[in-house]
Amino acid sequence: RIAGPSGLVIFGVTGDLSRKKLMPAVYDLANRGLLPPGFSLVGFARRDWEDQDFAQVVHDAVREHSRTPFREEVWQQLAEGMRFIPGDFDDDQAFKQLRSAVDELDASRGTSGNYAFYLSVPPKFFPKVVQQLKKHGLADAPEGSWRRAVIEKPFGHDLKSAEELNAIVHDVFDPEQVFRIDHYLGKETVQNILALRFANQMFEPIWNRSYVDHIQITMAEDIGIGGRAGYYDGIGSARDVIQNHLLQLMALTAMEEPAAFDAGSLLTEKLKVLKAVKLPEDLGRHTVRGQYAEGWQGGEKVRGYLQEDGIDPSSTTDTYAAVKLQVDNRRWAGVPFYLRTGKRLGRRVTEIAVVFQQAPHSPFDRTATEELGKNAIVIRVQPDEGITVRFGSKVPGTSMEIRDVTMDFAYGESFTESSPEAYERLILDVLLGDANLFPRHQEVEESWKILDPIEEYWARHGKPAQYASGSWGPGEADEMLSLDGRSWRRP
Ligand code: BG6
Repeated sequence: RIAGPSGLVIFGVTGDLSRKKLMPAVYDLANRGLLPPGFSLVGFARRDWEDQDFAQVVHDAVREHSRTPFREEVWQQLAEGMRFIPGDFDDDQAFKQLRSAVDELDASRGTSGNYAFYLSVPPKFFPKVVQQLKKHGLADAPEGSWRRAVIEKPFGHDLKSAEELNAIVHDVFDPEQVFRIDHYLGKETVQNILALRFANQMFEPIWNRSYVDHIQITMAEDIGIGGRAGYYDGIGSARDVIQNHLLQLMALTAMEEPAAFDAGSLLTEKLKVLKAVKLPEDLGRHTVRGQYAEGWQGGEKVRGYLQEDGIDPSSTTDTYAAVKLQVDNRRWAGVPFYLRTGKRLGRRVTEIAVVFQQAPHSPFDRTATEELGKNAIVIRVQPDEGITVRFGSKVPGTSMEIRDVTMDFAYGESFTESSPEAYERLILDVLLGDANLFPRHQEVEESWKILDPIEEYWARHGKPAQYASGSWGPGEADEMLSLDGRSWRRP
């Protein structure tokens, strides 16, 4: 899988994402030999830069953030295909210059008219940028070539705004030309959910309501909001990651086997899950939101959300959210899916835990088995990538005491191959036109339909509960599970 002749245009090239993820990913792809020799990278931003200045910025980003070793010859080859277009998004002159740059690169580097336009810009600029691409003839591919648009989240902040955004984008690009980034789908361990389920015989027979007690999906972060106050405040954790990353993880965990491993079949199955999601009737008892207060993390005292730079001290934005969802279909009826995420939690960990029912009967002495936990299959998404199976085992000794033990698969031990960074994988897929790992607009809209009533409920009911930084979230989240006679895992 090597990309053919092509180029990438990044709008918003001065942003954090561009520097930390996109530029290093392009270099790493080149370094792994996955880009064509004439690959070209064009930056577009409001900066008074020449091509060399842009190349220097990319160089520094690569030196700081790339995952593969720096090789001068790879860098030189890539740098020769870098161009910079200074300008505003409503500046027609700049878009004319972009068009000339594309023509010039087709001639000098052999990019063959194949271009992806990466909108790494706040959503309020999407309409302008796509309209300009249309106006200047950049959205239509010349005969035999392709043009694609890559769009970063957030795709709106509710269903209505997402629909409006999709309408604007689809006015210019066909749905097949649009690649929406959910970088969780680019993670190796997330792709492995489908391999675990559908490349094996032993898991799928028990992957249903007859055996599963409940499912917990956790995305915990130790970091706070850092310098992202402008983006985060008013958005909050549920819109930031439940609407996209966690609902995608849930869809992959719950979906039926796709007819084929292609974008259309995956969309069909994921969409069925999202459409079958049912919210709890009592949102007050079965959803929780929180906001981090000051606390200790990694031996350091950290400040609370309301004291962060750029945050309105009366903000009610959630930095923690937990929700209980049901998937109302034959496979999952009655099995709760508990989703939670938060910033400034005990540690960084993302996992999916499929927790099984207790054995219906045990021949062992009741007192000996009372402590016995439930079997579980835990997909460790990050950082300690792998899969754990938990089951009860006899404790060596003269009595029949049972204790939980685990069986582990760790990527680092089983494979010598290294995992590409999510953005590397996704950029390569865009250049290849492989849409398997990109949510389509129907999924995005369906996900907002799930979240909107929860957000509306929260907006009408008080404030988020405070939790100490470095803890595992507000006590209310523990109560939410204890209402159901369950408890959160402490990963
Ligand atoms: C992003 C969110 O989508 O994912 C961030 O906007 C979050 O708030 C990030 O920190 C986490 O990504 P990862 O890959 O570090 O788990």
